[in-house]
Amino acid sequence: MGYDIKDIALADAGLQRIQWAARRMPVLRSLHERFAAERPLEGQTIAACLHITSETANLASLLRAGGARVMLCASNPLSTQDDVAAALAKHLDCEPYCIRGEDRDTYYSHIHALIDADPRITMDDGCDLVSTLHSERREKLQGVIGGTEETTTGVIRLRSMESESALEYPIIAVNAANTKHLFDNRYGTGQSTVDGVLRLTNMLIAGATAVVAGYGWCGRGTATRLRGMGANVIVTEIDPVRALEAAMDGFRVMPMAAAAPLGDLFITLTGNTSVLRREHFEKMKDGAIVANSGHFNVEIDIPALAEMAREKREARPLVQEYQLPSGGHVSVLADGRLVNLSGAEGHPAMVMDMSFANQALSVEHLAREHKNLEKRVYVVPPEIDSRVAELKLASMGITHDALTDAQRRYLASWREGT
Ligand code: ADE
Repeated sequence: MGYDIKDIALADAGLQRIQWAARRMPVLRSLHERFAAERPLEGQTIAACLHITSETANLASLLRAGGARVMLCASNPLSTQDDVAAALAKHLDCEPYCIRGEDRDTYYSHIHALIDADPRITMDDGCDLVSTLHSERREKLQGVIGGTEETTTGVIRLRSMESESALEYPIIAVNAANTKHLFDNRYGTGQSTVDGVLRLTNMLIAGATAVVAGYGWCGRGTATRLRGMGANVIVTEIDPVRALEAAMDGFRVMPMAAAAPLGDLFITLTGNTSVLRREHFEKMKDGAIVANSGHFNVEIDIPALAEMAREKREARPLVQEYQLPSGGHVSVLADGRLVNLSGAEGHPAMVMDMSFANQALSVEHLAREHKNLEKRVYVVPPEIDSRVAELKLASMGITHDALTDAQRRYLASWREGT
């Protein structure tokens, strides 16, 4: 058993936080009972590169109850909750390697620490663990039976590995589950992104012009929450269908070059690079605030902003204010890293309950079925998706209709028409 964390003395505070989240994760709770009884993960070593939060700790505890050895490292250097990491080591019998604010070398040394332990199953949020295994640690690949991936950005990287036939074991794209992206990406990112902006800036959303770059599920959620709080929301998109959808959802749609002089707040959620760049910073209003809620810190071209700036200062914790040659100021939140996890606490437990139930059931599926799987990216089996929805509905006290026999027959028949 090993770990590398900030301070083990934080463990009791972390445990309290984990228990608070646990009460809002009824689906994981119901799986916990079954996993503890059936031990479907006995003998598995799991390497999990995830955001180390109180919600993730509840997932780790479930996997441990299922019989696995559980090792964790961070999927982002700024999202680790150090008290939770301490509780994972002291109270939950897991092996965390993560320290909030760790530098790049430490971040990767923690990924390597997990790989050193010969994992059978990998869990990733952004694909850094899988890509390190496939590039620098190929000698460890043969012991791995499968993996899961949490996020859109990670799935994009995996698909590109798959298309180059570079993927060496099957991976389940948890993000593909309806009970993941329709809820976590939309409502989780929507709420926690606004939460991160508010905690860092205390700005008034009502009446502000907010520019949301990207209208995937995360962008939709964020644009909708901001509108609900009274912002005038502009959406920018590169995909014509999504741009049309945003327009018909009632948002103004325009290129970033046109939005740049209008926005008080800019949030990028595209999964792409340099979405906000020099030509946009040059046009921004004095006092503009820019933040990112896409997985990596490349959506805002901060090096370009730094190069343009006359001066830079920390205006508030995690708020870097750049003074431009025009005399105007642009503030960047959390170094352009995920604002919801760096500035706030990430998605609420209530929504992570579904994402992580998909994770746990996908891991169980891999442990049972890996011999029948190919070196491909798989979607979450639909029966897992439905089961998670049923469990969540049951925990909310909601029942729903079922097909009658006549309806089932009608749907199965091609003869019945007008
Ligand atoms: N991703 C987004 N929010 C999260 C959370 N609260 N815990 C773990 N991963 C997350």
